[in-house]
Amino acid sequence: MKSKAVEDALNNQINEELQSAYHYLAMSAEADRQGLPGFANWFKMQYLEELAHADKFFNYVLERDGEVKLGQLGAPEIKDKTPLGLFEGALSHEQHISACIFKLKDLARAESDHATDVFLEWFVSEQVEEEANARGVIDQLKMIEGNKNGLFMIDRELSGRKPEEDE
Ligand SMILES: [Fe+2]
Ligand SMILES: [Fe+2]
Repeated sequence: MKSKAVEDALNNQINEELQSAYHYLAMSAEADRQGLPGFANWFKMQYLEELAHADKFFNYVLERDGEVKLGQLGAPEIKDKTPLGLFEGALSHEQHISACIFKLKDLARAESDHATDVFLEWFVSEQVEEEANARGVIDQLKMIEGNKNGLFMIDRELSGRKPEEDE
């Protein structure tokens, strides 16, 4: 790739997306452990989506004749294991990823890397959706205020999430 700084940042983003996947996988296990199969399913689907994001960056670096460098992943840490806490954690994580994407886009522009700038457009929209999805579930969880019937209903709804079609 023309800009080493952009290449490094793209490699870093592969790591961020894989780390996200790892994080959601841990959340899926935690939800399953708590007897919330719908939550577990939703986080598992999110895990798959993050793997697909990592793959998009991976393919893009190779397509631009760059060098893929895979770094280490850290063990996921779940701070608040309540159903609401899991989704609040997901939202703050997605906000972190959005910030990473914006920084990456600023860098691509500063380096006059138009192709990367355009490539990142998809991720900018995707992050709007990711944050809104997490926020939507948070709103529902706040509405039921820990009511067991409500939680059961939300879990049922989250069990309906299916893998996304390739975009
Ligand atoms: Fe992602
Ligand atoms: Fe995400």
